[in-house]
Amino acid sequence: MSTPVALGALAGFDERARALLMNTYARQPLALTSGHGVWVTDSSGRELMDLVAGIAVNVLGHAHPALQRALADQAERLVHTSNLYYTQPQLELAQRLVDSAFASRVFFCNSGAEAVEGAIKLARKWGRVHRDGAHVIVCARGAFHGRTLGALAATANARYREPFEPLPRGFVHVAYNDAGAIEAAIDDATCAVLLEPIEGESGVHPLDQGLLHDIRRICDERDVLLMLDEIQTGMGRTGRWWAHQHDGITPDVMTIAKGLGGGVPIGAIMAAPRADVFEPGDHGSTFGGGPLACAAGCAVMQTIADEGLVEHAAAMGDYLAESVSGLAPSAPIDHIRGRGLMLGVGLTIDGAPRVAAAALDAGLIVNAVGSRTLRLVPPLVITRDEIDEAVRRLGRAFATVEATA
Ligand SMILES: Cc1ncc(COP(=O)(O)O)c(C=O)c1O
Repeated sequence: MSTPVALGALAGFDERARALLMNTYARQPLALTSGHGVWVTDSSGRELMDLVAGIAVNVLGHAHPALQRALADQAERLVHTSNLYYTQPQLELAQRLVDSAFASRVFFCNSGAEAVEGAIKLARKWGRVHRDGAHVIVCARGAFHGRTLGALAATANARYREPFEPLPRGFVHVAYNDAGAIEAAIDDATCAVLLEPIEGESGVHPLDQGLLHDIRRICDERDVLLMLDEIQTGMGRTGRWWAHQHDGITPDVMTIAKGLGGGVPIGAIMAAPRADVFEPGDHGSTFGGGPLACAAGCAVMQTIADEGLVEHAAAMGDYLAESVSGLAPSAPIDHIRGRGLMLGVGLTIDGAPRVAAAALDAGLIVNAVGSRTLRLVPPLVITRDEIDEAVRRLGRAFATVEATA
């Protein structure tokens, strides 16, 4: 793949990053300096379209004025207080979240993995109080729940887990799209089932239609909690505020993060009354639910509502899927998975990283998950014209890859 763009864009970043930053990420050859909406500018001044959006985080796009204003206003007043005191932004965001979903109460933290860690503790406490010490959580293969030890124990992927074993015990993994396997895995030691409604990191794999109903029923019949990890699927991305709302069921616990702060770190656990068993001293976080992050969350939720971005995500998702499918006659596209603006483009070739690199050269940021899937999780504000332009660029990337195959 040609690299002139990448080299120009790096301008010394690569070498300095290698010297200064721990070697944890396979970064793109790109240093970003600013952005607006769906667009970002690199250090050589080149504008690119960002269909990764900070990995499904920048729901309002980059530099949205409502988020800028909320952050500036809050920073003028109060940035941090700890949870020894009340703040208005935290209560306002909790109210907005409770109004958006099934939950009656919220616990705020700072990231996705932290939300999952907290949910694991909540499930164990619930098992101790209500199910005779049951503590095992049934999880799915292909799931990704984060990099901390508990979240990693819930994550099935051996590549992430093995270097850090032994991990906490009390997790079993079953096939993702198989309610029977979940049912068979539940026994007296089980306190909860934990699932993503669409598995994101493993390549945008949705649960089959109707399966959440079956899983909800099984959890009720067997008296265990249903916990949904909506860290990637939430905040309107799939065309509903929360992906489970497509299915008309409610979980007992939900973990959220990513888009909640529009780029400002924040996560949360939401719980229905049945699962709301934490007591003082059970859990905590110095930074969790700080006024700055919560002011960001309020601005994000208000703007999503004001701009109709949930419905927009549904419509633009359909349009994006249809437009990318339109490339199929001349591109190695097998099928498109996902919902709303959370799409996986399944390829017929083992070439997703090459397509992503060619897309970068064509001025488009997309994400390869595995060798055969491109993930598209753009800002929810993306327009039809921008989708047209992004798909033109993706078409050029496919053509480059075909030409050099
Ligand atoms: C479904 C899901 N859960 C948990 C996480 C972990 O979130 P974080 O990286 O904020 O810790 C991710 C991150 O990609 C995710 O997609």
